[in-house]
Amino acid sequence: MSSEGFPPSWAERVDEALRSIELQGRWRTIRTLDTGRPRTAVSASGEGVVSFAGNDYLGLSQHPEVTAAAHAALDDLGAGAGAARLIVGSRPVHDRLEVAIAEWKQRDAALLFSTGYQANLGLVGALAAVAPDALIHSDELNHASIIDGTRLARSEVRVFPHLDLAALDSALSAAAGRAQIVVSDEVFSMDGDTADINALAELCAAHEALLVLDVAHSVLAESPPSGALLVGTLSKTLGTLGGFVAGPGPIIDLCRNTARSFIFTTASTPADTAAAEAAIRIVGSPEGAELLGRLRSNVERLRAGHRSPIIPVVVGSEEAALAAAESLLAEGLLVPAIRPPTVAPGTCRLRIAVSAAHDPADVDRLADTLRRRGLHP
Ligand SMILES: Cc1ncc(COP(=O)(O)O)c(C=O)c1O
Repeated sequence: MSSEGFPPSWAERVDEALRSIELQGRWRTIRTLDTGRPRTAVSASGEGVVSFAGNDYLGLSQHPEVTAAAHAALDDLGAGAGAARLIVGSRPVHDRLEVAIAEWKQRDAALLFSTGYQANLGLVGALAAVAPDALIHSDELNHASIIDGTRLARSEVRVFPHLDLAALDSALSAAAGRAQIVVSDEVFSMDGDTADINALAELCAAHEALLVLDVAHSVLAESPPSGALLVGTLSKTLGTLGGFVAGPGPIIDLCRNTARSFIFTTASTPADTAAAEAAIRIVGSPEGAELLGRLRSNVERLRAGHRSPIIPVVVGSEEAALAAAESLLAEGLLVPAIRPPTVAPGTCRLRIAVSAAHDPADVDRLADTLRRRGLHP
């Protein structure tokens, strides 16, 4: 590494860290695509591909009403909010979107965050700070933003085995009398499986524990029980950018007053916010129902009865996952290989993300190509 003025001892450390990443075969590069539509091209090569890598589950990032709302907000309100919400960054569109999210998710109130990642950091930290003896129970496959939220909260954390409600029940019983929080994804982002949210809610009620559900990927999942606090994102089902917490008014007041990832960051851009407002309108309309039907049917083409748009094909080693992804790419099918640290060693996989925007013929071609290679979605 040659960087003038950079302390040599630091240059060595950074070089060593980079060498180690390379030696482990875990070097990451960004692959740039020409557009956000499923049929697109890899910018570096110009090769046409169908992408099964995005989380734009209903294709709303490209919807004309969503992009028009973003354009209008940009023209009316400018490119940036200019400050945090609690300073002078709040606009009527932020307030309206919070009302729309609360209605969409059937909760009393909602608070916007700049990303879903920040929403998890904010809620978990705000809740844990209320009780000095707070104990957080977290599913072992929870998203990184939940894990980081529990770390930042500096409370005691007990990780329970994936979806193991009996183990969770024992852990809750063992800590009876303490202020307990259970946090789980509803749909797990690398496995596409779902938590039994009603059983989780019953367990939490029995132990007087708070239940926090991350509904980031819950586009096809059932509605969460009324007692659960929800964390979500605007970047997947709604196709824009931002995050939210939704729940009872006092919890939202608590987050607005104490969540550091809400307080100490600039408000979402007017364009992103207005786009999300338009996207929620579409989701609640007959067109939204039609898009959900299209998504469900595309998922069925790959894996009958599956309840999320995320379909993993576990292949084992990093080499096998990379080779499978490369061979699909050679046929114009972009399906990312997921490797440690995102998943556990030995469980490397192809992660297929399906959208309503996919042409069913492209989904069928992916299914056929996978089967020909002995990979079963
Ligand atoms: C389960 C889950 N929660 C939270 C997030 C973070 O959302 P965002 O991309 O809005 O930061 C993601 C994905 O990115 C996710 O998969």
